[in-house]
Amino acid sequence: MKRVILTGASDGLGKEVGKLFLSGGGEVVALCRTKPEYDCKFIKCDLSDEKSMTKACEIIKEKYPEFDALINCAGTQCIEPTNNTPYAKLDYVMKVNTIAPMFLICQLFDLIKQNEADIVNVGSTVGLKSGPINQVGYTTSKWAIRGTSANIEAELKNTACRVIQFNAGGMNTRFVEKYNGQKISDVDAKEWIDPKDMAKVLLMTLQVPKNIEISDICVNRKRKK
Ligand SMILES: NC(=O)c1ccc[n+]([C@@H]2O[C@H](COP(=O)([O-])OP(=O)(O)OC[C@H]3O[C@@H](n4cnc5c(N)ncnc54)[C@H](OP(=O)(O)O)[C@@H]3O)[C@@H](O)[C@H]2O)c1
Repeated sequence: MKRVILTGASDGLGKEVGKLFLSGGGEVVALCRTKPEYDCKFIKCDLSDEKSMTKACEIIKEKYPEFDALINCAGTQCIEPTNNTPYAKLDYVMKVNTIAPMFLICQLFDLIKQNEADIVNVGSTVGLKSGPINQVGYTTSKWAIRGTSANIEAELKNTACRVIQFNAGGMNTRFVEKYNGQKISDVDAKEWIDPKDMAKVLLMTLQVPKNIEISDICVNRKRKK
């Protein structure tokens, strides 16, 4: 693999995926609002904004039409009392976690097929079950992206393109701090997965032979009694 298009490349799991891919000699085209701190091609993009997304897709088509994978890693949270969740918060979480990856796939669909490129959609284990209370928006967005993966996987079945729905478990990133209003030190995150380890697993799903498709997987921390 020589080049990946990567959302969420500036922080957390996406940052570790980008750095690891770079260390293997690959090129990262990063779509995020903050410029990543490592060497990459940066396309400033707000995934909740149609104009910003459309412009980013135009830049990819013009400057980076050849790529081996589209990795949709960016994500946001929505924690609100269920009986008082504002429309705007639900709208935002669905835009960033579901519509943005779906739109990127649709906009780049012809190139994906032409390049025989793979797609990774980063979901969550809450997309496989019911999530915590007061997170109906987040949980729904992560269930929904699995629907996108299933549909696109079927649509690409007679091609070399693979679709990997990567349902991640709790990771030790700043996600909790940014959205839960808690410090990572305030929550019991000792056992959570190091995003560096998760990045290795994610890239491994792309590095297996092309006739293997790791489709809808759950990568969670080892259970204890
Ligand atoms: N952390 C966990 O415990 C956990 C568990 C299960 C699943 N996940 C999923 O794993 C993925 C990565 O999570 P993480 O923990 O690495 O999160 P993170 O550390 O908060 O990083 C989130 C990334 O998403 C980008 N992003 C957020 N909103 C954006 C927007 N409006 N426009 C453009 N980019 C945006 C951020 O970039 P900018 O701010 O620079 O734009 C950042 O690079 C997410 O899909 C998340 O839902 C996380």
